[in-house]
Amino acid sequence: MAPLPNADAYPKVSRLRDGTAVEIRPLQDGDKIRLAHFFERIPESERYYLKENVTSPEVIAHWTNNIDFDRVVPLVAISNDQIVADATLHRSRAPARRHVGELRVVVDPEFRELGLGRRLIRELLDIASEMGLNKATFELVAQRETAAIMAAESVGFQVVATLKGRIRDMWGNYQDLVMMELPLQEHESWWRF
Ligand SMILES: CC(C)(COP(=O)(O)OP(=O)(O)OC[C@H]1O[C@@H](n2cnc3c(N)ncnc32)[C@H](O)[C@@H]1OP(=O)(O)O)[C@@H](O)C(=O)NCCC(=O)NCCS
Repeated sequence: MAPLPNADAYPKVSRLRDGTAVEIRPLQDGDKIRLAHFFERIPESERYYLKENVTSPEVIAHWTNNIDFDRVVPLVAISNDQIVADATLHRSRAPARRHVGELRVVVDPEFRELGLGRRLIRELLDIASEMGLNKATFELVAQRETAAIMAAESVGFQVVATLKGRIRDMWGNYQDLVMMELPLQEHESWWRF
């Protein structure tokens, strides 16, 4: 398995806007129960739009048992021995697509709007840049994942395409999928933005 670049830097302690300290570190194989409990605390109305069935024990077990940084870099934030945020960087194995990394991030509702989501996005962008990636992307649902769209914009992501009606929402209505991108050449611009 490829090592995580800058693995020695973790765990890191991050102080949130309200003064709470959380620990940021890569997901570990012993995190299965913590990760399952974390996703149980995410409202169904938000889980519905995520790309995977995060309440399936098989999905969670697959993630924690098969950590492979070459394919997915998973970071978590920990408070009181609980996972309070999960952020991942996904890469294709195909050579034609390996220069692009897709980000996903979910924060516990109790820990939102304190800067944690943005901090994790920035951490993953640092890792993507260290890995030599060229571009980071987000695929988000317009009108349904607006907080994530705002969080991505807050570090410099821009909307590059909108796929009309690509998503069917919980009520059977069609919503747009927003593709966002950030070039990684301008090292650490995401910390300044
Ligand atoms: C998207 C999400 C991860 C943001 O996490 P967060 O920790 O609350 O975000 P932050 O506090 O770091 O916010 C960063 C910026 O995002 C924007 N933002 C965050 N939440 C917002 C909201 N509810 N409304 C408007 N803007 C918001 C703000 O610009 C904020 O910057 P500011 O605090 O300086 O104004 C969180 O809302 C979440 O888990 N949502 C559900 C899951 C989801 O939709 N994930 C995307 C799928 S990949």
